[in-house]
Amino acid sequence: MNMKVSYLLFLMTLALLLASAVSSDPDLLQDLCVADLGSGVKVNGFTCKEAAKVNASDFFSNILAKTGATNNTYGSVVTGANVQKVPGLNTLGVSLSRIDYAPGGINPPHTHPRATEVVFVLEGQLDVGFITTANVLISKTINKGDIFVFPKGLLHFQNNNAKVPAAVISAFNSQLPGTQSIATTLFAATPSVPDHVLTKTFQVGTKQVHKIKSRLSP
Ligand SMILES: *[C@@H]1O[C@H](CO)[C@@H](O)[C@H](O)[C@H]1NC(C)=O
Ligand SMILES: *[C@@H]1O[C@H](CO)[C@@H](O)[C@H](O)[C@H]1NC(C)=O
Repeated sequence: MNMKVSYLLFLMTLALLLASAVSSDPDLLQDLCVADLGSGVKVNGFTCKEAAKVNASDFFSNILAKTGATNNTYGSVVTGANVQKVPGLNTLGVSLSRIDYAPGGINPPHTHPRATEVVFVLEGQLDVGFITTANVLISKTINKGDIFVFPKGLLHFQNNNAKVPAAVISAFNSQLPGTQSIATTLFAATPSVPDHVLTKTFQVGTKQVHKIKSRLSP
């Protein structure tokens, strides 16, 4: 093999490796694979329902049509239309959510380990932002009709500073993006994250850690 050919092969292999490393949910190998949510068999995703039992209701949902109840600690609620609610999304690598915010409500800092998110503002105004791994905050105030992107895996939030409710539709490049909300992940995990881990991490006393744990306990 001459130098040119082996160099080309090397570049092609590199390109293939990069392509597989940056892709999101794996690509599908058939037209559809409606999730059999009740199956005990675990695969990367869900096993496919028998084709004869598939119908339009597997690809349908109206759960995003209604405003969610925001009378909770954070004044916001996420309604997910992911593979768990819409089994037809299995293996397709996309899903949506709706998020409603009371006046003053916050969707506190969280990450989606498996997806990039794009929000589209249905109504109201939100202060949104994400933080890069270099600890740079990228933030903006967005209004009805605007979109904003939260790159995969990065910590982000939305805050309703306005006096009226707000709502967004979120799109994800994963059938099940997953969410880790920093405060509840650290202070409301089961079993509990040890106090000394949290006192050292946040440079505060045990009393303050207990106070946060009690506020966030489910
Ligand atoms: C689809 O099948 C389910 C039973 O598996 C049934 O309850 C439902 O009514 C059917 N929906 C449609 C749109 O045919
Ligand atoms: C929120 O409001 C709904 C209906 O108005 C009520 O059923 C529910 O108990 C309330 N939840 C909380 C946490 O206050």
